[in-house]
Amino acid sequence: MADAQAPIADGAVRLRPATNAHLSFVLATETDARRAGFIGGWTETEHRTALDDDDVAHCIIETEGDGETIGYLILRGLRDTNGSIELKRLALAAHARDRGYGRRVLALVLRYAFDQLSAHRLWLDVLAHNTRARHLYTSSGFVEEGVLRECFRTESAPGGYASLVVMSILEPEYRAAVREPAAGQTKR
Ligand SMILES: CC(C)(COP(=O)(O)OP(=O)(O)OC[C@H]1O[C@@H](n2cnc3c(N)ncnc32)[C@H](O)[C@@H]1OP(=O)(O)O)[C@@H](O)C(=O)NCCC(=O)NCCS
Repeated sequence: MADAQAPIADGAVRLRPATNAHLSFVLATETDARRAGFIGGWTETEHRTALDDDDVAHCIIETEGDGETIGYLILRGLRDTNGSIELKRLALAAHARDRGYGRRVLALVLRYAFDQLSAHRLWLDVLAHNTRARHLYTSSGFVEEGVLRECFRTESAPGGYASLVVMSILEPEYRAAVREPAAGQTKR
């Protein structure tokens, strides 16, 4: 994890740089989420390469209480001269989903990208049928930019192709959301 000046944690979850020792967990979590039709996937070699790439933050997600590894995420474009950083992947292990961790992790990602990495824009793409992830991103301040129609081959979509929705949040939007959290959300 590049340029981490402070622990990226919120009392319930924390982000830590992934190492080769985490790859079996990462690959198992990725395979499970890919088979369920939520995400794409990388080969083990692609993950290993990313671990050594200073343009990439490959992180594991742990609970703060007992240090359980519950997921992983990948940010790309840390050296992008336009300040445009991509949340390439975010996946929690099946047992850790729908318990509020995703929202907490996303808040940490926003903090990391804008406060520590000085991003101007954080963007991602999400499969159009992944309604849970889309709700999470929208309710965390991401804006839909457009749809890449049927650009992703997957058995989980009717016809074998799924569309990707491109979403982003800009630094001023993040700052405004920190000042004025949406109803029911806590300040980051
Ligand atoms: C997507 C993911 C990171 C979200 O994390 P999570 O811990 O499960 O999500 P949370 O519990 O923090 O929040 C989920 C939100 O989605 C809502 N939700 C759950 N299922 C939903 C659905 N089918 N449609 C719409 N919203 C849904 C929940 O009500 C909650 O919203 P709320 O806080 O406004 O009540 C996690 O489920 C995951 O890893 N999924 C598999 C991989 C994946 O889809 N990654 C994202 C790829 S872009």
